[in-house]
Parts: sequence; structure tokens; C-alpha cells
Amino acid sequence: MTPPTDRPTRFRVPRLARAKQEGRRLTMLTAYDALIAPILESAGVDMLLVGDSLGNVVLGHSSTLPVTLEDMERSTAAVARATSRVLVVADLPFGTYEASPELAFASAARLVKAGAHAVKLEGGRPRCAAVRLLSEGGIPVIGHLGYTPQSENSIGGPRLRGRGDQAEQILADAHGLEEAGAVALVLEMVPADVAGEVTRALTIPTIGIGAGPQTDGQVLVWSDMAGMSEWTPSFVHRFGELGEALRVAAERYVTSVADDSFPGTENYHAT
Ligand code: KIV
Repeated sequence: MTPPTDRPTRFRVPRLARAKQEGRRLTMLTAYDALIAPILESAGVDMLLVGDSLGNVVLGHSSTLPVTLEDMERSTAAVARATSRVLVVADLPFGTYEASPELAFASAARLVKAGAHAVKLEGGRPRCAAVRLLSEGGIPVIGHLGYTPQSENSIGGPRLRGRGDQAEQILADAHGLEEAGAVALVLEMVPADVAGEVTRALTIPTIGIGAGPQTDGQVLVWSDMAGMSEWTPSFVHRFGELGEALRVAAERYVTSVADDSFPGTENYHAT
């Protein structure tokens, strides 16, 4: 038997529904490696999403489409190894779940074996059979509606989804995913009023990104949140300026090596 420890307990899937019932806002940030994940965990975030935004943020791709299951497994394992309290959620990358529920289960199981506690997949009604199979097979699923980056070739680039008739579609898809067993729903770039309507209509929590303040929680890409790059989407608040801080540190290092002030006597042993 595992001995009891005094560590705070891990945020587990049943707490998602409890948080919604209690009106406690949920927090999620992306994380892709063992360097950043424990820092975000120590800040008190509930969930770390090993997002397929890994493709853009870490691997230098211009979209999420080239991301492979192996990329996701490696990143998920690193985040899982480096954390002990957060719920680790891993994205199913493009091409690893759409063809059949069985394919979705096989791909999701690999992410769970790598350390994920839940997986996220994009899309509405067409994904419900996969969501049902995974949920019944013990793999919690988070849905993703609104702007879904893996469909950028069909729907165009990043844009608000859910105006006019699309609002009805999003609501119907949200109900379908909940009924199929999804444990939460990410709403990306959806008008705030539509996000609010979906949030009130569901018993599972909604987690918004560019969807306004009426969702049950918020998610951001960590590097956007921390101000790592010069440009951030308009729906992001820069909570820090890490990119500039890193640039200044590297510049001081370069200068110190050039002017012989590093390494100093405290940094080495003469004999
Ligand atoms: O991959 C990702 O970072 C995401 C968030 C934008 C929700 O899916």
C-alpha cells in the first residue's frame, strides 16, 4: 500500500464538476516540458494542458497540423514526470483520432501511458462516438469547440466562431459532447454571450480562451501569458515580460564573457 504523505492531493477529474457546482473558477495553462511545468504547478494552476500548440510554440511549425503522437507522448511524459499535483491533459494531435473511435482509443491510451490523466480532442457531433468509447474505457475526455486549429484548412485561420447560426451549432455540439461523457469543454474564440449560454446550459465546466468572462475557467498558452514573444493575440493579457527578461539576462552573459568579468573567482577553483 502507498504510505500516506503530507503532499497536497492531485487535482483529479471529479473535482472539475465539483468546482462548477461550487462556482470556483478553474485555471489551465499549457506546458510542454519538465522545465516550465513545475513552475506553473507551484503557482497553483489546476490543470496543465500539453497542447498541440507545442507545434507552434516549441517545434517552430506554423500550425498544429504537423504535430505527431510521438511529439505529444514525449512532451506529456516530461510534464507528468515533473509534476505531482496538477491534472495533466494531453491533446490528441491531428490525424490520430478522427477516422474511428477505435483509432481514437488507441491514440489516447498511448497518451495516458505517457502520463496524461485526460485527453482533449477537437470537434462536435462527429466526435461523440469516440468520446463515448474513451469515457467508457476509463479515459476522461475534454472537448474543444469554437475555433478549432486542427480544422484551419476547412474553416480558415483563427477567427471568432459562433455568430448567428453557428451559435446553435455550438450549443448542440456542446450538449452532444456532454451526453457522450466529456468531463469539460474548451471554448476557443467564441462570442462571450454564446460562451455564457453554453456554460449555463451544461453541467460540465467550460474553459474559455478568447471566449470572455462567463466560462467556468480560463486557459492560456503559457508563453503568451508570460510575455515570451513580441506579439500576443488580443484576447491574451501579458502577466509578465519573460521574453525581455531572458533577452537581458543573455545579453549580460555575452557582455560578461566579452569583458572577462565571467567567470569570476567565485565561479571556479584555481587548483
Ligand atoms: O493546444 C493548445 O494550446 C490548445 C489551447 C489553445 C486550448 O488547445
